[in-house]
Parts: sequence; structure tokens; C-alpha cells
Amino acid sequence: MLDSQGLEVSTDSAQTIATIDRFGEAFLGYTQDAPAILEGIEADPDSVLARTLGAALFLFGEARQGRAEARAHLDAAAAGSRRANERERRLLDAVEAWFVGDYETSVTAHEDIAARWPTDLVSAKLGQYHAFNRGDSQRMARLALSVLAANNERAYAHGMAAFGFEQTHELVRAEAEGRLASQMSDHEPWANHAVAHCLDAGGRLDEAVEWMHGLAPTWEGCNSFMYTHNWWHTALFHLDRDETAVGLAIYDEHLWPIVPEYSQDQIGAISMLARLEMRGVDVGDRWQAVAPYLEVRVDDQVEPFLDLHYLYGLARSGQDVLADRLLGNIETHARSATGFVRVDWAEVALPAAKAMVAHARGQWDVAAAGLAPVLPEIYRIGGSHAQRDLFELLWLDAMYRAQEYSSASALLEDRIRVRTSIPWHHQMLADCLAKQGETGRAEVTLVAARDRAAALTPWAAEGGS
Ligand SMILES: [Fe+2]
Repeated sequence: MLDSQGLEVSTDSAQTIATIDRFGEAFLGYTQDAPAILEGIEADPDSVLARTLGAALFLFGEARQGRAEARAHLDAAAAGSRRANERERRLLDAVEAWFVGDYETSVTAHEDIAARWPTDLVSAKLGQYHAFNRGDSQRMARLALSVLAANNERAYAHGMAAFGFEQTHELVRAEAEGRLASQMSDHEPWANHAVAHCLDAGGRLDEAVEWMHGLAPTWEGCNSFMYTHNWWHTALFHLDRDETAVGLAIYDEHLWPIVPEYSQDQIGAISMLARLEMRGVDVGDRWQAVAPYLEVRVDDQVEPFLDLHYLYGLARSGQDVLADRLLGNIETHARSATGFVRVDWAEVALPAAKAMVAHARGQWDVAAAGLAPVLPEIYRIGGSHAQRDLFELLWLDAMYRAQEYSSASALLEDRIRVRTSIPWHHQMLADCLAKQGETGRAEVTLVAARDRAAALTPWAAEGGS
């Protein structure tokens, strides 16, 4: 039978085909319908493609929990693979490699599928996901580009290209693709998100706030990752406009709790609380509200980028025993993991983890010294530029609190060079300069901070809340 893209699927069940299409639509459009694939497996338990996508569904939980279910679906798929077609077998190879953490094999299989069956956007997007988690933005962009012509009429293909291009700093092209996809479809949250990244990279705060709030109603049916993540970006824009109260209100209304058990909801919340605190906001007992959901994460070690967030959340909420256990597990995993992944855990995640715990516990000089050497390599554990900025902000905060004003000034000047529009950066720089006795330069910088703030249109003035 054929799916909605005309791709051959080895099944006789119309219901299984329908759920494969529903899974694809949910995955590409970030809706809540992905578990429909389980109905498709029920309708045809021998469908290798349905089983493989079922395994992917559980692996997307990004947790130790769910691995047993993923394994069972992969075993069932492997048992029936003789009746599968070549594309289905390659996808099974990719997801099997994902299960064992062999991401190189996964991405290679997805690239192969993209070359031979370019209308399989689900496979291409899965490949992008793995490349993203390994910090390989070039490969993300290339994968999207390789399927763009064959899917020119599909907004999703342009959204995938937009984010890939943004991550490779091709901002003009990224924004054009993101805006095109957002025009082609009134539900393309990933393309909306890619444009937000472009606006963030350019420090275009007024445009960004208008863009995000204008599109927010279309995110209502999204899964919790996409919903909270687009709101997370929106909150970031407000923080950069010095509207911390709006940022905190967004946290309470749209970030936490939506699906508090989910990895991506958790790291978004942790990252936002940390950023709010660095802006001087009292977050009350919000760390304590997140902490109970992090307890099960201590033994995860699925992705280093996730573990670093969990660790910071546990340490900031005062769960010292759990934080120490997680740190110990990261250390053990850094020794026992294999291949390239081991290097990422040992050389990036572990030193970053130690420094982040130090920051959470107020050991500023230890945090500053620990983060400095690891930051140039932090891209290797995945996350977007905007997400990874958390680590640089923690370094900045640690240097400032350790009274290393000269080093903090250098970093701030670099950040201002890239994005001049953020008043907070200028205020911080003025403060650092004044503390070094450079009162003249501090005065000039303070004027720049006021100018930048005055140039922004306050959100409340536009009727926002
Ligand atoms: Fe993002």
C-alpha cells in the first residue's frame, strides 16, 4: 500500500497506513497525535514500519523509561524484516542504531533514505534530530537541503531547512525559508520557531515579540515540547527587553507545568528559572516545584545536554544527595560509554557538570574556572545556540560574582558586538567597568544602556500582558 506521500508500505491494513500518516503529520507538525501509531501496530502487528515508528515514539521520551517498549517494537520489526521493503529496512537500521547510541550509523541511514526516497520527510527530520543532538549543524542543513526540491510544496520541508540554515548561521536564507513556510501553512510551529531563532541571533527584539505573540494562538494544539519551547523563546525575548515580570508570567502560564514528566518541558523550565535568577528575579519556590520530577532522571544518562539541566535543577532546589548521585552517574557514564559519545560525556559533559553544580552552590570561582575551558567545545553535546547560551550566561554570572570584572567585561563586550540591542548587557558592562574604577567608560556605557532601552517599544504599551 502507499502512504500519503506515495511511499510504499508493507502492510495490508488501511488503518495501519492511516496511523503511519497520522504519526508523520504529528511528528512534522508537533501535534499530540503521534501515539496513534500504536493503533496501527495493533491493526497490523507485523508491519515493520509501524513497529519501527512505535520504537521511535518511545525513544522520543528521551528517558530510561520507555526503552523496554522501544526494544520490544524493534525486536518485532526485526523478526518481520524479510517482508519489509528496502526503505523500511533502512529506517529500522536507523532506529536500531539510535537505540544503542550509534548516532553516526543513524544519521548515515537517514541520509541514505533522503537520497533514495526524498519525499520521506519523517526520516529526514529524524536524521536532523540526531545531527542536532550531536551539535552537527552542517549535517542538519545538508539533510534538509537534500530533500527540499522534492518537497517544495510542503511547508514542513521549508521549516526544516530554515532551522538547519539558522544553526549554520545562514540567517538571511533561514529567515526567508521560515517565513515562506509560515505563510504556506497556518500551522507550522517549527518554521515559526526558526524565524524566532533568526530574530534572536540578530537581537531584533521588537520584531520578535510581535512575531511570537502574533503566532502564539496557532501553537495551542502543539505537543508540550513545541508549545513550551516557542513560549520559552518568547520569554527570552522579554528578558532581553528587561521585561522580567512578563518572562515570569510566561513561565507560570505557558512553561510549567504543561507535561512536567517530559524531558524537554523540564529542561526548558530549568533553563528559564536559571536565566530569571541571573536577571535578579526571585523565583520563589519554583525550583522546588520542578525537583520532584527530576528524581527519576538521576539514572537516565540519555543525552548529556539533558543531564546537565537536570543536575542544575536538582542542585538549585537543594536536592544535594540526588545532585551528587547524578554527578557520580555522569562520571561513571563518561568512563563506560563507547565511541564518540564517550568523548562527549568525558571531555564536555563531566567538566561542565562539575562547574554547574559549583555555580548552583555559590562556588563562583570554581564555576568560572570550570566553565571557561569547556565552553568552546560545548556545541558537541547538542542544543541550539539559544539553548547553549545558558552555559555562557552561567560563566558570565560566575565571573561577575567571583569579582572577575575584567574577564566578565571582555565577555560582555563580545556579546554586545554580536547583539547590540540588549540593554542588560550594557548595564552589566557599565557595572563591571565601574567596579574596575573605569568611571568614564562606565558612564558612556550606561548612556548606551539607556539608549537601547529607550529604543524598545514596551510590550505593555502594545496591549500585551
Ligand atoms: Fe529553539
